[in-house]
Amino acid sequence: MTAEIRAPRRHDLPSLFECVRTYEFHLLQPGGTADPGMPEDAILSVRNRIVEVDLRQRCWIAVEGSTVLGFCCWGWLDEVARQAKTILICVRPEARKSGLGSQLQERRMLEMREQGARELHTWSVDPSSVRWYQEHFGYRALGEEPLRHALHRWYWDDQSYWGIHRGFRDRDMLTHLVTDLPTLENAS
Ligand SMILES: CC(C)(COP(=O)(O)OP(=O)(O)OC[C@H]1O[C@@H](n2cnc3c(N)ncnc32)[C@H](O)[C@@H]1OP(=O)(O)O)[C@@H](O)C(=O)NCCC(=O)NCCS
Repeated sequence: MTAEIRAPRRHDLPSLFECVRTYEFHLLQPGGTADPGMPEDAILSVRNRIVEVDLRQRCWIAVEGSTVLGFCCWGWLDEVARQAKTILICVRPEARKSGLGSQLQERRMLEMREQGARELHTWSVDPSSVRWYQEHFGYRALGEEPLRHALHRWYWDDQSYWGIHRGFRDRDMLTHLVTDLPTLENAS
């Protein structure tokens, strides 16, 4: 797969949102259902905290032509303690197992290290993703936590995109993982 790993540009957003929809991230649309994968009368729960993603910072895409094949982003769990957290990573199902997920994960881990992060926390509901993090990126499991549906506000300057992300259907426990981030010589 000859995809380029780079920061998103505004014109990438439609393809980027199509990409994350394959991982059950749904934009809230007027007149639609909040989560088209759930029955119309389903009761959805949300974490009270709204996940904020600035699409102009700490976001990376794998792009081939005009198609976003993969996306990832990260944020600070505790910037003073130099603890970073992953927010979301997703590769379109047809583009998986070609190394794009690893390239995205490595790119965001490099950016975290460049910004001085020393420890990276990740939460995942999917046992094969948990294995992937442990086998390829040195994570260890810290424990399990209940999953709640999460409300997201992603934004580009003053344009907001509200979405709901529940990851996988029929799974309700998250594994909390952590890995160390070695310092870079010229890290800030
Ligand atoms: C997790 C995820 C991002 C991985 O993306 P990916 O592009 O498939 O990742 P990679 O290709 O780097 O690695 C996946 C596997 O393919 C293998 N692989 C990498 N390059 C390969 C190649 N050229 N040929 C064959 N296999 C390859 C890797 O060794 C890895 O093997 P493993 O599953 O035994 O660990 C992707 O599966 C995904 O989007 N899942 C849904 C969303 C999700 O669960 N996100 C994480 C939750 S927090």
